[in-house]
Amino acid sequence: MELGVNIDHVATIREARKTNEPEPVYAALLVQEALADGITIHLREDRRHIQDKDVYQIKEIIKIKLNLEMSLNNEIVDIATDVEPNQATLVPEKRQEITTEGGLDVVSEFDRVVKVTERLKSKNIFVSLFIDPIEEQIKKAKQSGANAIELHTGAYANAKTEKERMLELNRLQDAARYAKSLGLFVHAGHGLTYENVKPVAATGEITELNIGHSIIAKSIFVGIKEAVRLMRLLIQEARWR
Ligand code: PXP
Repeated sequence: MELGVNIDHVATIREARKTNEPEPVYAALLVQEALADGITIHLREDRRHIQDKDVYQIKEIIKIKLNLEMSLNNEIVDIATDVEPNQATLVPEKRQEITTEGGLDVVSEFDRVVKVTERLKSKNIFVSLFIDPIEEQIKKAKQSGANAIELHTGAYANAKTEKERMLELNRLQDAARYAKSLGLFVHAGHGLTYENVKPVAATGEITELNIGHSIIAKSIFVGIKEAVRLMRLLIQEARWR
C-alpha cells in the first residue's frame, strides 16, 4: 500500500498572505524523509494554492513519485506534459468549490478524457481517474485507456451514521474488486483521517491512498514527519490484519 501525501494546504497557508512561507517544496522533502511513497499536489485552474513554480521545483527535487492532480483544462494539460510527473490524477474542478466535491464524470466527458489520457500517456505519465464508486464510471474509465482509478472516499468519510458508513465502505470495496477485475490499478482518497483510514486501508485491492487535509492539520501540532509516520503506522496495522 502506497501513501501519497497531498501538500496543497502548505501552499494554502502561504497564499493566505501571498508571501514565501511555508514553501511546499520544503514540505515535500520532509514528507520524502518520512518515507511516504509519493507527493500529491493539485495545480488548480485558479491557482488558489499550488503555483506553477511549486510543481516544477517539487518535480526537480524529489525522488519519490510525483502525482499531479489536474483538471481536463488545456492549459493545465500543457503544463503537465511539460513537467512530466510520474502520475496524473484527472479530477473535476469547479471554481466555487472549497475542495474537489465529486468524482470525474467519465461517462459524459468520455471523449475529452480519452484525448487527455492519450496525451499524458504519450509522455509516459501514469494516468489515474478520480471517480465515484459507480460501476458505469469504472467501465468507462477502463475504456478510456487510463491505467488506474482513484475511488472518491468522500461519501464514506462524511457518513453520519455507522450504518451509512458501512454501506459506503461496501460500495468502495465492491468498486475496488470490480476495477481490479478489469485490470485497473485502484487508488482511493478524499476526506480520509487518522480515525477513518483503517477500513479503507484494509481493502486488499486498493494499492494507493492519497491523504492531505488530515495529515497537514496534524502536522501543525506534531510536525509533518511525525504526522506522516503516524498515518503510515495506521495503514500498516490495517494491512497486517
Ligand atoms: N485525492 C484527490 C483526487 C483529491 O482531489 C484530494 C483533495 O485534493 C485528495 C485525494 C486528498 O483529500 P484530503 O485533503 O481530504 O485528504
